[in-house]
Amino acid sequence: MKIPSIVSVGLFAGLTILIAASPAVAETAAAPVEPLELRKIMWNLSKEMQLAVDGIVTENWRQVEQAAMRIADHPGPPPAEKARIMAFMGSDMGQFKAHDDKTHNSARELAEVAAKEDADGVISSFSTLQETCLACHQSFRKPIQQHFYGQQ
Ligand code: HEC
Repeated sequence: MKIPSIVSVGLFAGLTILIAASPAVAETAAAPVEPLELRKIMWNLSKEMQLAVDGIVTENWRQVEQAAMRIADHPGPPPAEKARIMAFMGSDMGQFKAHDDKTHNSARELAEVAAKEDADGVISSFSTLQETCLACHQSFRKPIQQHFYGQQ
């Protein structure tokens, strides 16, 4: 039973090389490109923002708090993708990271005021949080999408 396992290891290695090679191909091809993990993370953030809004209108502060905590603790992209983003951003990476930090910190503040059931504080912190999303999008969404997906 040794041989089949060697064959499958060989196949697996071949597959890994294919997968590893595909991003480089994708960046130069005009064909539709597999979205970055970052985009999925972003849509999750958007879902959490929606849950927070629903929590505000139903005065369910616990729901607001939990959604805000999930935004505050949101994961980054996997290391390989992070490396590709950093390589593209170059010296702008510090600014990008600063935007990211602001989102994490504002989300933490939102969670804190929600835990205190401070309705006005929640509205104001939510708005601050939303501004941090917008600020990064205004600076970086287009360049990143143009680079990783081509003209759209
Ligand atoms: C540090 C920068 C940064 C911050 C902060 C940020 N985003 Fe994003 N966001 C991006 C980038 C870059 C993209 C484009 C990703 C892509 O298309 O692969 C994006 C795309 C998105 C998208 C997908 C829309 C599309 O163009 O397809 C949504 C939804 C989104 N962000 C929601 C949020 C929300 C909600 C927040 C705040 C809680 C947030 N983002 C904070 C950088 C950021």
